[in-house]
Amino acid sequence: MNIVVTGSIAYDYLMRFPGRFAEHLIGEQLHQVSLSFLVDEMTKQWGGVAPNIVYSLSLLGLRPKLMGTVGRDFGDYRTWLEQNGVDLSAVRQHEDVFTASFFANTDLDNNQMSSFYTGAMARARDYTLAEACPEPPDLVVISPNDPIAMMQLTEECRTSGIRFVYDPSQQVPRLQGDELRRSMQGAYAMVVNAYEAEIIGSKTGLTIDDMRGMIEILVITQGPRGSHIYVGDKRIDVDSFPTDKIVDPTGAGDAYRAGLLRAITAGLPLDVAGQMGALCATYVLEKVGTQNHRFTVPEFIARYRTQFDDKGELDRLLTDHE
Ligand SMILES: Nc1ncnc2c1ncn2[C@@H]1O[C@H](COP(=O)(O)OP(=O)(O)OP(=O)(O)O)[C@@H](O)[C@H]1O
Ligand SMILES: [Mg+2]
Repeated sequence: MNIVVTGSIAYDYLMRFPGRFAEHLIGEQLHQVSLSFLVDEMTKQWGGVAPNIVYSLSLLGLRPKLMGTVGRDFGDYRTWLEQNGVDLSAVRQHEDVFTASFFANTDLDNNQMSSFYTGAMARARDYTLAEACPEPPDLVVISPNDPIAMMQLTEECRTSGIRFVYDPSQQVPRLQGDELRRSMQGAYAMVVNAYEAEIIGSKTGLTIDDMRGMIEILVITQGPRGSHIYVGDKRIDVDSFPTDKIVDPTGAGDAYRAGLLRAITAGLPLDVAGQMGALCATYVLEKVGTQNHRFTVPEFIARYRTQFDDKGELDRLLTDHE
């Protein structure tokens, strides 16, 4: 199956300030702030939602196509993704800007000061699926990105009759009710967490039942409590995959989507799809960063079977590699 994942592509610059911001924010001086925090720890991590999803999809044996816009500093990230089996032919590079970048500084109380520079991501609105993919894909994932690009991509999929998964997650706060309602219309699937589902409900006035009527598969993840998959008139409840080695809470949602999508492309049942999402999320939770986990397909299947019963269905992942 020819699958395209669109969304933000970014670097995350994560710093630790060995002090407390509160000690430097002086009440009567707040009208003229000029502060510099000396940090002695920084990591630069691969980030952005779309690369997180394609990274896990390629561990699961697919060669997904990443679609997005990047800047002149993309070189090392390109090499990393190429080495990991991602198809980068639909990544458009702009030499006059930097790749989107998240700069976060965290203090000893876990307070955070951060900025997100959109950079090349803002150019996503000038890039269509027709330009990116000469052959129409079988499935397009529309993940958080420039909000206008997200709306245009859903529209393009609807008018061209391309199956799409709508994944608004972090952009839910930025999107208006009518934009969300329009974008989810005709989606093959929508995946959100429980908090995002609540916000979408209050912004659009739609109930879960209304959304179920508009989308074939509605998935609402519930953190450690697992996920709910609504399809037809059924709700499938999926447990999370237990672990006692969580070191970093970020990236679970993106990895869950990769596991779920991998199963769907292999034609596996939806309960198995949710369980594959849960296991893939657990691998990410056990590592710092969102692309530092690693497994082979046989290792993934063996670990899945320590917890869930697929009745041999996952053997399909060993041979289905297109
Ligand atoms: N503490 C946990 N233990 C085990 N599994 C977890 C835990 N937290 C999340 N997961 C798994 O990850 C899936 C997605 O998690 P969640 O609902 O928190 O998504 P999210 O809020 O979008 O995450 P993210 O922080 O990556 O945006 C869950 O369905 C579950 O399988
Ligand atoms: Mg999320």
